[in-house]
Amino acid sequence: MISGTTRVAAVIGSPVKHSLSPAMHNAAFRQLGVDWVYVALHVAHGDAQRAIDAMRVLELGGLSVTMPHKEAVAMAVDALDPAASALRSVNTVVLQPDGTLVGHSTDGAGFVASLTAAGVAVHGRTVCLLGAGGAARAIADALARAGVARIAVLNRTFATAQEAVNLAGGVGVIANAHDVGEADIVVNATSIGMGSDDLPCDPRALRAGQVVADIVYHPRETALLRAARAAGALTVDGMGMLVHQAALQQQLWHGQYPDVAVMAAAAERELASRHQ
Ligand code: ATR
Repeated sequence: MISGTTRVAAVIGSPVKHSLSPAMHNAAFRQLGVDWVYVALHVAHGDAQRAIDAMRVLELGGLSVTMPHKEAVAMAVDALDPAASALRSVNTVVLQPDGTLVGHSTDGAGFVASLTAAGVAVHGRTVCLLGAGGAARAIADALARAGVARIAVLNRTFATAQEAVNLAGGVGVIANAHDVGEADIVVNATSIGMGSDDLPCDPRALRAGQVVADIVYHPRETALLRAARAAGALTVDGMGMLVHQAALQQQLWHGQYPDVAVMAAAAERELASRHQ
């Protein structure tokens, strides 16, 4: 029941109406029994500062931030957590009890949490990171913080690959021809495979003993994960990152970590209803 005490959280973005976040977050609020509701708000390009001002006025309990506002919101909030500060990008805003707004980035930590949930420890392991966009940079930053031994970045555009390498601090390198086959963990952080059978790397390099993770969650088993499974690798699909980055947002807003299986089921239902 929505009442006079219900807290409101929202995602701001453009486009935003196909966001899976309302389905996931409202399912989590119901599962936890907390008096919150979550809506999608369209905010036009260039209006992030005004949206943050509105958040203050309306005392929204939390915000998720998506394209194209992640960088502008990082400039508009009062403080940043270490990941958001390093990335200059915010996907979560938290209203503190004293009224200040703090920007966080839960994408990278959500990815690491999805590996942990699959039984994969990252400390001391070697990683081949495919891609160097916003998601890849968040993952590079989080993996470096989690203590991986090497992050080899492979990207179509060299300049952005170098940026991701820099974010990985002392453990980042530009990938060589052997990294896909030699890395303990291969991560597809490109959009390749979303709604297609395209592959972000040569699948013949994948092998048993590796972990292969994809951030693409639709289809849930991408062509990359299918090839990895056929090669005997352990696979981690993109639904894990999607739900864990959202669960971390919930924890920041009200202190409780929801059941991610409930969130994944809600996201799956929402996706299925669109593809009927
Ligand atoms: P996101 O915020 O989801 O990470 P992004 O910042 O646009 O999205 O990054 C997309 C990533 O996928 C980039 O690494 C991009 O490579 P470039 O830096 O060369 O643009 C990669 N990517 C997308 N489509 C690609 C394709 N067809 N071939 C190779 N790389 C591709």
